[in-house]
Amino acid sequence: MTQRFYVTTPIYYVNGSPHIGHAYTSVVADALTRYHRMRGERARFLTGTDEHGQKIEREAVKAGVTPQAFVDDVSTRFRELWPKLGVQPDDFIRTTEPRHVEGVQKWWRKVRDAGDLYKGTYKGLYCVACEGYKTEKELLPGALCPIHERPVETLEEETWFFRLSKYQEPLLKLYAEHPEFVLPETRRNEIVSFVQGGLDDLSVSRSNFTWGIPVPDDPGHVIYVWFDALFNYLTAVDGTAEAEFWPPQIQLVAKDIVRFHAVYWPAFLMSAGFPREKLPTTVWTHGYLLSGGRKTSKTPGLTAVKTPGTTDPVRIADVLGADVLRFYLLREVGFGQDGEFSIPGIIGRARAELGETVGNLLHRALPFVGKYFEGKVPAARDEDLTDAERNLRTRIAALVTEVGAAWDTLAMHRALELTIEAARTANRYFDETAPWKLAKSEDRTRLGVVIAHVLEIVRVVAVMLSPVTPAKSDELLHQLGLDPVAPREDVDQWPLSWGGLAAHTVVRPGQPVFPKYDPATEAAMLLSLDVRDAEATPKSTPKTMSTEEKPAETAAAPVIAPAAPVAPAAEEASATIAYDDFAKVDLRVGKVLTAERIPRKDKLLKLSVDLGEASGPRTIIAGIALAFPVVEELVGQQVVVVANLAPRDFGKGLVSHGMLLAASSPESLSLATFPKAYAAGTRVK
Ligand code: MSP
Repeated sequence: MTQRFYVTTPIYYVNGSPHIGHAYTSVVADALTRYHRMRGERARFLTGTDEHGQKIEREAVKAGVTPQAFVDDVSTRFRELWPKLGVQPDDFIRTTEPRHVEGVQKWWRKVRDAGDLYKGTYKGLYCVACEGYKTEKELLPGALCPIHERPVETLEEETWFFRLSKYQEPLLKLYAEHPEFVLPETRRNEIVSFVQGGLDDLSVSRSNFTWGIPVPDDPGHVIYVWFDALFNYLTAVDGTAEAEFWPPQIQLVAKDIVRFHAVYWPAFLMSAGFPREKLPTTVWTHGYLLSGGRKTSKTPGLTAVKTPGTTDPVRIADVLGADVLRFYLLREVGFGQDGEFSIPGIIGRARAELGETVGNLLHRALPFVGKYFEGKVPAARDEDLTDAERNLRTRIAALVTEVGAAWDTLAMHRALELTIEAARTANRYFDETAPWKLAKSEDRTRLGVVIAHVLEIVRVVAVMLSPVTPAKSDELLHQLGLDPVAPREDVDQWPLSWGGLAAHTVVRPGQPVFPKYDPATEAAMLLSLDVRDAEATPKSTPKTMSTEEKPAETAAAPVIAPAAPVAPAAEEASATIAYDDFAKVDLRVGKVLTAERIPRKDKLLKLSVDLGEASGPRTIIAGIALAFPVVEELVGQQVVVVANLAPRDFGKGLVSHGMLLAASSPESLSLATFPKAYAAGTRVK
């Protein structure tokens, strides 16, 4: 029978826009789904939005709209986010949908009929942000919630209680018999000691607000938002053709909500009659993405620490690319640990590992195919192999197995580290065998063997990367002359065997697959993502290309032009500046007098721009060359210049004395200008 794999993310609260922390869990879930599909399993990935509760009701009131209108809007933002990050859930559930509302009421009745619900009065300290009660000893000084650092409220209300206390022993038995139920182990230990400390019955209805699912047969109460929300994982498949996916193998959560998932949730399910084999297999708790040392969040004040830049995943993906962001999220942070999120860090990783290791491998080998093998992958016959190839194959085979094992244990950071190691191994082999020297021999056999091996490893690496960088992997495969990764049930496509790239395959060399960041491009990217005091990103690792090696087209795919900081989307509160700060920027109308290309700097142009200054025209180096195939078009153009920017040295005597304003997308770039002519030097404000 086909193995199946059901993975869930928490359903996200719709009280704020999605941020990089939400994206993190969803990217992990998406990558896991792709990995399992590639291995021939039937996989299903569920995400959605959590739309009930007092917190949402209050936000809607603040926004002056009905709760339904409010949740419709924010839920759409989540739903529309995922494709922009290459995240493809199979289902997106909203807790306001009838299928869920009816499902929750059905399971409520089951729990009630099991005798596990009773009515009483509850008085406690409630954190609206958590939608949960706190004990006094948990609070921070000043009666603040330890998670949200906001005051808790005293609530006294008539409520339905769930007999959680009854499940203390069954839960402890579950953790003991199935240690995999809560992972990693540190989290399990915390949960076990929490449950050992004794469980109070849990208040599971509210009567002081109405935005929730009505308690069946008791219309004055709505169901507690966590009872409501947790059942989403079941209501999404229950009674449908997808019911065969139940139970989930992996339920991803961050540590703030592990208790709800590892204690309440299995207790609710046990009460509703689910035996062990129908309980979720593993609640997998990951750490927090931190920004400036704090949990990334939309909450003003939490992101507004000095430098970190935007936490809006769409803006980041627009500028840096979705696959590059996905790679960073999974590679940078040890899964289960907290990890500092940083935009310069994304660029550093992408440059060193994707660009200079994986992309480099492809682009240094392909030119040999065109030049010496008529554009076809050369043959590598067994009798022509040396120990170098035999050792290489053994090492790659070991890495492929280890990478798979790392995925299987959710050690994605390790899986990616080893994947990159495979590409590094091939780069070293390339350096050692020096194909540019082999090409000098009349007999091309040895050269063919080396190039065939390098290209096969590019294939292996592309396939292993594809759960994380699906689009980029397909581009790599395309250039190798191969089809995109296309999972098929019961077919394990993990690159366990050597030789997926057959001899004589016609390669399709193209643009560099991964961007190469020159200093100007990088500076513009950082600026457009609101990174102000960024530390320098890690600089290029030493080139592995020999000087004699014919470089592949080293020009990077343009990402955005350096002269073109994309205007930040207006919504980051932390990004506002005082007028006085704005007034410090000296913007001037300029007129382009000359424009010329710069040898070997195919993205830069050297402009001479008149700002009406007595000292004469200024030299401005702008990263806009790719947008102006006919550079003469620029001559005479009116532009907007940041005139008081410190000069920037591009090396080799190229110093820029200003910056042009422009708007750009990955497809196009336009310089800022005015419909009417103004004298050079006119102030722009
Ligand atoms: N609605 C509840 C979950 C109900 S599930 C039945 C909730 N929503 S939430 O919007 O606050 O999302 C929490 C989840 O978002 C975390 O568990 C985690 O998966 C993800 N993250 C939010 N911020 C994050 C970080 N800064 N770092 C890592 N994950 C983050 O809780």
